[in-house]
Amino acid sequence: MIVTPDLAGLVETAASRIAARIDETRSRVAICLTGGSTPKPLYERLAGEPYRSRLPWERIHWFWSDERFVPFDDQRNNARLAFSALLDHVPVRPEHIHIIRTALPDSGEAARRYDDTLKRFYGSERLDPERPLFDLVLLGLGSDGHTASLFPDSTALEAPQDCWVVGVDHAKLAPFVPRVTLTLPALASTREMLFLVAGSEKQDVVNRLFSGENFPAARVHTSGQQFWLIDRAAAPAR
Ligand code: 6PG
Repeated sequence: MIVTPDLAGLVETAASRIAARIDETRSRVAICLTGGSTPKPLYERLAGEPYRSRLPWERIHWFWSDERFVPFDDQRNNARLAFSALLDHVPVRPEHIHIIRTALPDSGEAARRYDDTLKRFYGSERLDPERPLFDLVLLGLGSDGHTASLFPDSTALEAPQDCWVVGVDHAKLAPFVPRVTLTLPALASTREMLFLVAGSEKQDVVNRLFSGENFPAARVHTSGQQFWLIDRAAAPAR
């Protein structure tokens, strides 16, 4: 757990960790973005200097951990957030942006399509522990202990190794819209994972999680590096 004095400190720490991880990767880079509100200042920071000039944008592929099943231009859409805060402002290659498509009949179909997208990018249907799918996965923590759109007691938590994306009919926290989420095996297949948690409203769930409560966010076991970046307001009381 890395505790920062405030959200600005969390953003700076996350941005420098992301740049360091990208620097360690010589070929294409696969970054899985999170949704929610916490990452917005981080995405805006990456669009600013020195990152705008420094990062090898042409080598980076962009994915999402989950999506709300709403149109792209809906304020609740996670991809829309990333475009407005970052991707529209830096020289990314459009063909390297792999959004979870929501202009489809339902979240189940969107999940099947994204599962196929990930497997085609990876080049196999079987995750090899020695060859992670992602270089970096960003995740948030909901007040109920969910991460991505893996909610407590959800059957999505039991998805098998070969199921990388599922549809979620009923979100248990706002926004109460259907979701599409990566599963635990897919999220765990990464060289590095950064959880971003900020704000006093998260202190209770952080306390409970680090006291051992088996929330979904506690079940993302990656063989890669895992960092919890938490600001002072959300950190467990000393
Ligand atoms: C989503 C996110 C979700 C989010 C947490 C925390 O689609 O909502 O992927 O897992 O990270 O709910 O959200 P906040 O950052 O808004 O607190």
